[in-house]
Amino acid sequence: MSPRPRRALRLPLETDRLRLRELTTADEADFVALYGDGRITRHLLYGPADAEGARQQLGRALRHQRAERRDSWELGVELAASGRLVGACDLTLHAKDEAEIGYLLAHGSWGRGYGTEIAVALAQAAFGQLGVERVLSTVEIHNNRSLRVLDKAGLRWEGTLRRYARARRRWWDVHLYTVTREDWLTARS
Ligand SMILES: CC(C)(COP(=O)(O)OP(=O)(O)OC[C@H]1O[C@@H](n2cnc3c(N)ncnc32)[C@H](O)[C@@H]1OP(=O)(O)O)[C@@H](O)C(=O)NCCC(=O)NCCS
Repeated sequence: MSPRPRRALRLPLETDRLRLRELTTADEADFVALYGDGRITRHLLYGPADAEGARQQLGRALRHQRAERRDSWELGVELAASGRLVGACDLTLHAKDEAEIGYLLAHGSWGRGYGTEIAVALAQAAFGQLGVERVLSTVEIHNNRSLRVLDKAGLRWEGTLRRYARARRRWWDVHLYTVTREDWLTARS
C-alpha cells in the first residue's frame, strides 16, 4: 500500500476579522484562562478542564506542529485588528478523506459571529487545501449555541449518536453535523 500523501495546511487562515494561527508558548496564560472557564468547557467532551491540563494540551499542540506527517492542527484564534487571542480551534484529518472541526471562544467574545466565521474558515480550508470529501463536527446535544453555529456555517444534522463517549464521569449524547464537498461548493457558488 502506498503511504498516505502528506497534507499541508497553509497558515494562518485569515477571515474578515480573525486570524487562525499556530499556537505558541506565549499563548500559555490565555490558553489556561480559556480552559479554566466553566462556561466554555461545560459542553466540551474532550480537552482539559483545569490549568495543568491546559498546559499539557498546549505542550502537545506545540510538539505536534513539528510532526513530519501532520493530521491535526490546533490553532489559536486572534483578532486580526489587535492580535489578541480570543479562542482556539482545531481541524483533524481522519482516514477516508474526512475532517473534523472544533472551536471555542473566550466568553467575552461570544455573540459576535466569530464562532461561525471560524467554522466556515476551517471547513473551507478542509475542502480547499486538504481536499477532503466531507467535514463533520460532533456537538453535545444541549449545546444550542454551537448547533446554531454549525447550521449557519452550512453543516447539516445527520443524526444523534447516543452514549457516544464517556468523559468527565458521565456519558455524552452528541449530534453529528456534516457537509459534503458537493453541497459546500453548491452552497457557495
Ligand atoms: C460555540 C461558540 C464558539 C459560539 O460562538 P459565537 O461567536 O457566540 O457564535 P455566533 O455568534 O457565530 O453564533 C451564535 C448563534 O447562536 C445563537 N444562540 C445564542 N445562544 C443560543 C441559545 N441558547 N440557543 C440557541 N441559539 C443560541 C445566537 O443567536 C447566534 O445565532 P444568530 O446569529 O442566528 O442570532 C461559543 O459559544 C463557545 O466558545 N462556546 C463554548 C465552547 C463550545 O461549546 N464550543 C463548541 C464545541 S462543539
